[in-house]
Amino acid sequence: MSSAKIIDGKACAQRLLIGVKADVERLKADGIAPTLAVILVGADPASQVYVRNKILRAQECGIRSLEYRLAADSGQTELLALISRLNADSEVNGILLQLPLPAHMEEPMALQAIAPGKDVDGFHSENVGGLSQGRAVLTPCTPSGCLHLLEQVCGDLSGKHAVVIGRSNIVGKPMAALLLQAHCSVTVLHSRSVGAQALCRQADIVVAAVGRPRLIDAEWLKPGAVVIDVGINRVEQDGRTQLVGDVDFASALPQVSAITPVPGGVGPMTIAFLMKNTLTAAVQQAHAQRSPSEAVCLSTY
Ligand code: GUN
Repeated sequence: MSSAKIIDGKACAQRLLIGVKADVERLKADGIAPTLAVILVGADPASQVYVRNKILRAQECGIRSLEYRLAADSGQTELLALISRLNADSEVNGILLQLPLPAHMEEPMALQAIAPGKDVDGFHSENVGGLSQGRAVLTPCTPSGCLHLLEQVCGDLSGKHAVVIGRSNIVGKPMAALLLQAHCSVTVLHSRSVGAQALCRQADIVVAAVGRPRLIDAEWLKPGAVVIDVGINRVEQDGRTQLVGDVDFASALPQVSAITPVPGGVGPMTIAFLMKNTLTAAVQQAHAQRSPSEAVCLSTY
């Protein structure tokens, strides 16, 4: 068994973060300090881990991070007031609202309140629409990370048949839009799809983002397919909690030409693209504020 077919998302993310760090240093020398505000409402254990990792990575690449924690029973008005304050703060370049929100809050309204230029998650309708129209907007971090891995492994994706399993706003839908922009033929499968396994078996590229532990095994995969596993499922096995993907890794491995592991595949790429988006937002805001005659050459970032 060759390990070359296991896609090392951790190493790829590390390379991206080194580039981000170098750009952040150059920006700081130009008087711009990229800043990311992270909002966590409540104390969901998985969200706490994700937020901690995002803040740690930001620190590692020199991005200033501000953390805002609201109690689980905070009101929507309090959250909207915080977002409004951060929108107006010229020192804040990116705003990340960790999802899911507590059930009493309206997620779409909160996401829509974030200024599109600071929306480093790419969830605002203006950015969603921009992605769909092929405009240069901030795009969601997980699908952006998946696309980057696919381009590293496959090179040009043009003409390939990509199957996306899952149609969430966070991963499935933007993933399909990005693959379309990369000139793939795209099929989106979901819980109501008829003959999902047979359709998936036609794919050159499979992106699994369905949230069902080990759903996709070798039977779903064409020999030589490239598989990106976005799933992070906690399962009890042999008396302990294990993280597993949406793909049955052991079953899929002999069938595929390349596959991401869980953990160590897509997860680190999501955070790397959050840092890249924060950098992009900071550069775009500096562009908007500075006159063209000012010396800083922002187009090099
Ligand atoms: N919760 C799970 N994934 C994500 C993500 O990509 N962004 C945010 N903000 N919350 C999440």
